[in-house]
Parts: sequence; C-alpha cells; structure tokens
Amino acid sequence: MTQIIALAGKGGTGKTTTAALLLKYLTAHKMTPALAVDADANANLNELLHLDVRTTLGTIRKELKGDIPPGMSRDQYMEMKIHQSLIEEEGFDLMVMGQPDGPGCYCAANQYLAMSMDRLADNYQYIIVDNEAGMEHLSRLNLRKIDYLLIVSDPSARGILTARRIAELTGPLQLDIRQQYLIVNRAPDPIPSALQEKIDAAVVEANMQLAGIIPASEELVSQELSGESYLQLAEDSKVIQQAFAIFDRIFKSKKP
Ligand SMILES: Nc1ncnc2c1ncn2[C@@H]1O[C@H](COP(=O)(O)OP(=O)(O)OP(=O)(O)O)[C@@H](O)[C@H]1O
Ligand SMILES: [Mg+2]
Repeated sequence: MTQIIALAGKGGTGKTTTAALLLKYLTAHKMTPALAVDADANANLNELLHLDVRTTLGTIRKELKGDIPPGMSRDQYMEMKIHQSLIEEEGFDLMVMGQPDGPGCYCAANQYLAMSMDRLADNYQYIIVDNEAGMEHLSRLNLRKIDYLLIVSDPSARGILTARRIAELTGPLQLDIRQQYLIVNRAPDPIPSALQEKIDAAVVEANMQLAGIIPASEELVSQELSGESYLQLAEDSKVIQQAFAIFDRIFKSKKP
C-alpha cells in the first residue's frame, strides 16, 4: 500500500528542506520507489535536489484545453503527458504541480488529473507532498488520505502556536490523516526550557507526536549556497544524522 507523507507548516519554516531530507532518507533506506510531489506553485524542491524542471502539471492541464492527437482520449493523453513530465532519478521520481488553475478553469481537466494521479500513485511505496503554507491549499489537493502529516515549526512560541492550529484544522477540513507529527526546525541547541514546555503542551493538546528537533545547520546553509543537491550531503554529517533519527522515529515500524 502506498504511504502518503505530506508537509505542512507556516511559510519559511523548513517544509521543503524537510521534504528533501526525507527523500534522502527514503532512498538511503531503499524505501523506494518514492514519488516527490512539489505542490508549491513556486516550485523549489527541485532546486534543493539540483534537478531541472521541464513540464509541470499546470502546463499539461492547459494543453488539454487545446487539440489532442487523433485516436487518443483526453484521459489517455493526460496520462501519457503526466508520465512524460516525471523527472526520473535513482529510487525516486519528481513531479511538479506548477501553477494552479486561474479563472475560467477547465474543470474536467482537474478530474482527469485526479484520476491519473490515483493510478500513478499505485506505482510508489511512498509519496512525499511538499506544500506551500496554508492548510486550505493542502485540502485542495484532494489527497485520498494522508498517512503521515509532518507539521514543521520554527523554534518560536508563535511558530508552535501556528503548528498547533494546523494540527487542529485537519478535522474541520475533513482531511483523512492517520498520524500527525511535529518537527521543530532550525532550533537552538540546547532548546530553551520555556520553548520545550510549549512544545510538550502543543503535542499533547493538539494530538501530535513530537518527531524531533532539527537544529540550525551550517551544513544546510552552505549546501544550498553551493547549489549542490541535498541528496549529496554526507550520511555521517551532523544534520543528516539528526534528520535520520527523526525519520527513524516516524517510520521505525516500517523499516525492512
Ligand atoms: N535546519 C536548518 N538550518 C539552517 N537553515 C535552514 C534549516 N532549515 C531550513 N533552512 C533554510 O531556511 C530557508 C527556508 O526553508 P524552506 O524553503 O525549507 O522552508 P519552507 O517551509 O519550504 O518555505 P515556503 O513556505 O516558502 O515553502 C531555506 O533557505 C533553508 O535553507
Ligand atoms: Mg517550501
């Protein structure tokens, strides 16, 4: 069964960073094939992975409005285009959603898209969905279920409060979420005790599990500046060990 992992959290907290680190974890542990979906209209997961994007689903949806090759249904055409748009790498594929529909949406295209996505999903063991900030956005993606919702927070009182609100919104938004985790990112080490108390209260009261804390990392900053892929970070580097310990906690029962 395909497991869906979605990232949520306030803007700039580290969702895309966490998605890239998680992809490294899944490929390193042969928890593959994996599909990484960049669902941020301003796609940038590819940059952290150092991959070029050619086609997005937004472009395909637009193409579907025009003429399609004879002898093909729109449904088949869309499926073919989606397969062509996948960036295929060792152990994982990357798909970029691109711009959403503007006014005058060709709504049938969204239906074809959802159907094709459902069929495609079955090819993968894990699907990571990197989102832009905002839970409404996540609910618009119409995922059939989310096995793991990873809520990323910055190390501030307001950040933790936002994470908590996100966790509490999943019910009203009718998202089918199996487990939700809090990850506090870019944290000072050691973490101030007043902040730790807020974290402890938030996980209990908003029904999250604390997956762990990723400290502020010079390694991540310099890797991003160098333009090299996060997948190339050394496995014995501090930040990879810290991130992998978090993912071990989340996926322990799933490891082969
Ligand atoms: N643990 C960390 N240590 C140092 N820098 C970090 C860390 N995590 C993230 N950053 C940096 O913070 C910035 C924002 O991170 P990222 O893009 O992952 O956030 P985001 O939640 O995806 O943002 P958005 O809401 O815009 O999609 C990036 O420049 C990233 O390199
Ligand atoms: Mg992002």
